[in-house]
This record gives sequence, C-alpha cells and structure tokens, in this order.
Amino acid sequence: MNLIQDWPLIAEGPAPLDDLPAPRWKHNWSTHPESARRLFRLVCLLKPRLIVETGTFEALGTFALAKAAAQNGLPARIFTVDFDGDPLFDCPHEDWAALKTWRSENLQKARSAFPGVEIHFIEGDSREKLPDLLQAVGDPWDLFFQDSMHFTAGIQAEWEIMKPHASSQAVVVFDDVCLDWKKLPSHLLGRSDFCLSFVLGDALWGRWRWKSTAQGRAQFFAQRVG
Ligand SMILES: C[S@@+](CC[C@H](N)C(=O)[O-])C[C@H]1O[C@@H](n2cnc3c(N)ncnc32)[C@H](O)[C@@H]1O
Repeated sequence: MNLIQDWPLIAEGPAPLDDLPAPRWKHNWSTHPESARRLFRLVCLLKPRLIVETGTFEALGTFALAKAAAQNGLPARIFTVDFDGDPLFDCPHEDWAALKTWRSENLQKARSAFPGVEIHFIEGDSREKLPDLLQAVGDPWDLFFQDSMHFTAGIQAEWEIMKPHASSQAVVVFDDVCLDWKKLPSHLLGRSDFCLSFVLGDALWGRWRWKSTAQGRAQFFAQRVG
C-alpha cells in the first residue's frame, strides 16, 4: 500500500460499518463516522498485523479497526490503551464509571463478532504503558491510531515512544489534528503545532510520506518509507 497513491481509496469508498455501536457517553468524543470509515478502508488496504490505538474511549474506533482486520482474514492483534478519568477533564466519578461499562461492552461485542482478531485493552496512561507494551509484544507495529491526547506535547510524547518500533511500511494516524498552514505564524512564534513539526522533522528527506484531511473530524496520516 502506498499512502499517496491509494489516498483516493482511503478517503472515499465503501466501508460497511452499519453495525458500529452508537456513542452513549455524555460527551461525544468518539471517532467521527467519516474518520471511522477512513480507518476501515485503510486497514483493508494496509492489512496490518499489529495495531496499537491510544485512547480507547467507548471502543468505537477499536470496533471499526477490528471489523476491517477480520475482513482481511489474516491474523491481527489490536492493543488499545486508555485510563479511567482524564486528569485534564473535570467529570464526576459516576460518568467515568459509565464510560468504563460501555467500553467493556463494546470491546466484548467486537471480540464476539470478530473472533479472529485479538483485542487487548490496557488500562493506564499511554506514556507509561506503551514502552512496556512494545517490549512485551516484541514485534514492530504496522498501524498506530493515535487518539488519546490531542495537544502537541502529549502527541509528541507518544510518538517518540512509538516511532522506533514502526515496521517498514507502517502507517500512523493522528486523530483530531491536521496540517493547517494558518498556524504557521504561531509555529514560528514558538507555539509549535504537531503536524507542522512532523512535516518539518520526521517527513524531511522523504522518510515519511503524509496526507492531511479536515473532512469529518481532522486526521493526519503518515507512512514510513522504506
Ligand atoms: C477522543 S477519545 C478516543 C476516541 C476513540 N479512539 C474512538 O475511536 O472513538 C480520547 C480518549 O483518550 C483518553 N486519554 C487521554 N489521554 C490519555 C493518556 N495519556 N493515556 C491514555 N488514555 C488517554 C481519554 O480518557 C479518552 O477516553
């Protein structure tokens, strides 16, 4: 799969996700349906064996990833990380408890519907859990769906952990961010924007090819070259 050549197939096309569970939590942080469809089509083309997601939330993204992986008919493992109670977000304990229940239900639904796909939930802060996870798994990842923190320092912290373990054709999808050239002045003033810093850093010299979209909810895709 080549992210640039295959982009039209990722951006648009069929994605049978009518059975995607409905979002139930009081705040709809779930992946946008259009973003879920892009993920589905990406997995069908990329055929990843090892998928890592940060930010499980209600597990709707996990469900879409698992369904596409099941359709591929190849062995696939998904590791998805979340903690209960984002310290940056003030919310009553009962709400976090409800979220945990719905997440467990959706994870169970995905496991039952797609038994050929291993789905592992890891509870904890991604920045603490990812290093141990990568060491325990041992294999390089093929797809990283980064959908936990959406601020630059948080994304960068995860990316620095994940990047050295990418397989040769690996794809990373950063959710809720896209390249916005209007942010160039703020970047130059030192308030760095993640996508721009990726383009000016990782993607320099053609090491990662990338595509950015603001459709649905924004997503920034990048694929390792070589
Ligand atoms: C936008 S939601 C994820 C949506 C989900 N991926 C989907 O496809 O529907 C973000 C989630 O990331 C979690 N989160 C935020 N920071 C985190 C961190 N440092 N470690 C683990 N999870 C985190 C939040 O608790 C929240 O459940």
